[in-house]
Amino acid sequence: MDKVLVTGGCGYIGSHTLVDLIESGHQVVSVDNLINSADHVLKAIEKITGVLVENHRIDVCDLASLQDLCAQHDFDGIIHFAALKNVGESVSEPLLYHRNNLVGMMNLLEVQKQFGIRNFIFSSSCTVYGNPSTLPVTEEAPFMPAESPYGRTKQICEGLIEDMSTAHPDFRYVNLRYFNPAGAHPSGLMGESPEGTAMNLVPIITETAIGKRTSFSVFGTDYDTRDGSCIRDYIYVMDLARAHTLSYVHASRSPLAKNLDAFNLGTGRGTTVLEAIAAFEEVSGIKLTYEKSGRRSGDVVSIYANYDKAKELLGWQPGSSIEEIMRTAWQWEKNRSQVGTA
Ligand code: NAD
Ligand code: WQD
Repeated sequence: MDKVLVTGGCGYIGSHTLVDLIESGHQVVSVDNLINSADHVLKAIEKITGVLVENHRIDVCDLASLQDLCAQHDFDGIIHFAALKNVGESVSEPLLYHRNNLVGMMNLLEVQKQFGIRNFIFSSSCTVYGNPSTLPVTEEAPFMPAESPYGRTKQICEGLIEDMSTAHPDFRYVNLRYFNPAGAHPSGLMGESPEGTAMNLVPIITETAIGKRTSFSVFGTDYDTRDGSCIRDYIYVMDLARAHTLSYVHASRSPLAKNLDAFNLGTGRGTTVLEAIAAFEEVSGIKLTYEKSGRRSGDVVSIYANYDKAKELLGWQPGSSIEEIMRTAWQWEKNRSQVGTA
């Protein structure tokens, strides 16, 4: 049974991935300084899996503490989620984002090297593609100039990984480029719980429906799309979690000739903002209050994934629709206050 160090394990995608890793028979240890999460998610994971995950409240920028932890455990792999991810904040606080996301990344690569930890999975993002010229986007699409310091940290991290893969052919690296993760665990026990106000469309919709917000804006209805609003590829968080486990297995079995791979994780289907709203209204029976407003600066008009490579090499296929995403996100929003995360 492989033992995997999961950074950011108390966060949104990390916590859902812990569930999938445990259910697939992996041993896991989390490192999360709780800067954008709370550790009561570990209780939810225990309820779902029967396993109480050990979380170490360590900042990944603290190399000495990471080294102490790695000296105590014999890790076979690292799945690195821990990062700051608020695009707008990264524009006003670029140093904070570069320091947190890049120093953290370098420290993890450092302990990987020092302790000979073979497998490394990195949370990248479709943001590396910027405004793509061809849709659906394949992994071969060029990186466009970053739209934000956050996006730049993802591009630099992928570059760091590439350099490590050249220097250390015995290590295995996978970059996972997520499209728009959304939805919650089907148990209703865990979901997205950002500290402060939600920044992404799906939690903004559920917060409006429950009354935490009075309304929200649709940013732009005059784009050259089928209804004028932007198109995104919303990927169900449990499908994403599954892809991490499969990527981990792929990395650990990967032949020596190839030690670096990148995969798009999306559904291949684009959904407009107005279609996402309609899907929520359909599954919840609630009419949302929103206004059609101007374009948001920096928004990509349309992006969705070609995930053929993940299908072929990982045996991964996204199973859930936008309706399933909205149903689980809504169930979680209604439950959140009861687990102290409202
Ligand atoms: P999240 O904020 O819910 O989870 C990140 C976790 O990392 C949090 O629990 C936070 O407390 C922790 N963390 C941050 N900095 C840390 C540090 N220095 N030391 C220790 N812990 C730290 O975010 P998420 O949505 O789960 O995202 C996980 C990863 O996926 C991030 O790298 C993010 O950039 C990437 N990603 C997210 C999305 C998305 O839309 N959610 C899309 C593409 C990529
Ligand atoms: C989705 C759509 C908005 C809020 C961000 C990051 C990206 C990646 C995923 C991490 C867009 C519209 C939103 C609102 C709206 N994260 N919208 N009203 O911008 O696709 O991507 O998260 O890597 O890097 O940039 O996600 O959820 O903010 O927006 O109309 O109040 O919803 O314009 O079309 P985005 P989002």
